[in-house]
Amino acid sequence: MRKPFIMGNWKMFKTTKEAVSFAKEFKSLYHKSDVKVGICAPFTQLAALSDEFYGTGIVVGAQNMHFEESGAFTGEISADMLNEMDIEYCIIGHSERRQYFNETDDTVNKKLHTAFKHNIIPILCVGEVLAQREAGQEFNVVKSQLKGALLNLSAEFVSKIVIAYEPVWAIGTGKTATPEQANEMCGYIRTVIEELYGDDVSENVIIQYGGSVKPGNATELMNMEEIDGALVGGASLKPADFMQIINF
Ligand code: PGA
Repeated sequence: MRKPFIMGNWKMFKTTKEAVSFAKEFKSLYHKSDVKVGICAPFTQLAALSDEFYGTGIVVGAQNMHFEESGAFTGEISADMLNEMDIEYCIIGHSERRQYFNETDDTVNKKLHTAFKHNIIPILCVGEVLAQREAGQEFNVVKSQLKGALLNLSAEFVSKIVIAYEPVWAIGTGKTATPEQANEMCGYIRTVIEELYGDDVSENVIIQYGGSVKPGNATELMNMEEIDGALVGGASLKPADFMQIINF
């Protein structure tokens, strides 16, 4: 039985002071439930958020990491650095990283291998751009992203990862995929995982939908059979909105 998992993605928003104030308000509203909850925050907010959420069950994740163990990579953060802070999760291959920072399926694959070595659970993002959907290529695109990202990774590891289907045309645009479109692709992702790794793995892997998830549409998305959770950008920035999504 897969436990619903809703993760916030703060992107490049909030100072540490703002993050702490969010955490205090969010904790006051939060009650443990069957839904797993977390926030992926900018690097400089991770320590403060981990402290604030300690003992609550709310998890904290990073939004990126480098695939090399260490080295002359100015401005980058390594898996070891995340391990030292007990950060368990990291978004990998978000479409904004692919679009603005030249991430490719190959760098995403290298990052997943590094995450595996360091016991970091990746939230692997895949999704097509509008032109690809309009050309009827969305399934091919997502399959090839998955195959590229997961190259030479073990079934044991893949059964623990989180996959987020984020159609690029729905991110930050206010345009949500319909629950049927989101469900169809999440189901397709599960069949690709089954082809690559078999039943046991595909039944365990958590598949989230992301792209303009908000209080008003969370219920219908989360009630879809194949959708196990959500990766929430804009609507995770306000405690009350994020709480409403969690209580879908
Ligand atoms: P959004 O972002 O909810 O603001 O569309 C989602 C994401 O990029 O993960």
